[in-house]
Amino acid sequence: MSQARIIDGKAIAASVRDEIASRAAALLAESGARPGLAVILVGEDPASQVYVRNKDATAEACGFHSVKHTLPESTSEADLLNLVETLNNDAAIHGILVQLPLPGHIDESKVLRLIKPEKDVDGFHPVNVGLLNAGEMKSALVPCTPAGSMVLLKRTLGDKLSGQNAVVIGRSNIVGKPMASLLLQESCTVTIAHSRTRDLPSVVRAADIVVAAVGRPEMVKGDWIKPGATVIDVGINRIPAPERGEGKSRLVGDVAFDEAVGHAGAITPVPGGVGPMTIAMLMANTLTAARRQLGLKDEAPLF
Ligand code: GUN
Repeated sequence: MSQARIIDGKAIAASVRDEIASRAAALLAESGARPGLAVILVGEDPASQVYVRNKDATAEACGFHSVKHTLPESTSEADLLNLVETLNNDAAIHGILVQLPLPGHIDESKVLRLIKPEKDVDGFHPVNVGLLNAGEMKSALVPCTPAGSMVLLKRTLGDKLSGQNAVVIGRSNIVGKPMASLLLQESCTVTIAHSRTRDLPSVVRAADIVVAAVGRPEMVKGDWIKPGATVIDVGINRIPAPERGEGKSRLVGDVAFDEAVGHAGAITPVPGGVGPMTIAMLMANTLTAARRQLGLKDEAPLF
């Protein structure tokens, strides 16, 4: 059986970051401004701490003005809302990201809705959700993980997306729904499958493009994949790996990679596929937000 081409998300993310860094340098030369990103972390969740550190470091590496606010778990909702309001009114900050999840005593949706839509680099504000769904890409900010998945698809399939059958497995607001919207804009025929979908294997077998975003380790089996299909695996699941020693674990996607690689035409690995793209697209969104706030036109899309 032929082997799929492995889509190198690490290399593509590096090329996106390089492009953003050079566009940021051009912006600095042109306008004297640096894109400004503020990341807010509430509490001490170790995974969130790692993400926030990476975001901050990547922003610095791209030549951005980067600010990190680390607040204690006990922070009140009112104090967090005040901080968001201060950042909304800070002209040096073009992008605001509140790391999720927030502690239980804080109303997540209230916080996300307070972020000015033009500074909402996560693309979670209802205004950005609406703009994306209306196809108003010159005004929308698009959630980073689906945006990164589209870059991988475009770099793999070029202009061949139109008319393809795409199945998105998962209907989350962060990945599944915006991904379906982006695929529809590329003229794919889009199916959104989810936990209640009947006969998921046969739905997936009809797909030329499969985007798996369910958060269940290796749920999508190799023989569900249509020969030659393109597979984008958004899942990042940590599972026990006793073969590596006691207490060890490893990361796997939502797709059984070792099986699927014998069926797909191209496939993203986990880790090293979609994961590295997310932070790269956060940088892209921050630059876009900065240009718009400075009254400049968007640059050529990355996808
Ligand atoms: N927590 C996990 N993923 C994300 C993300 O994409 N954005 C934010 N703000 N928090 C997250």
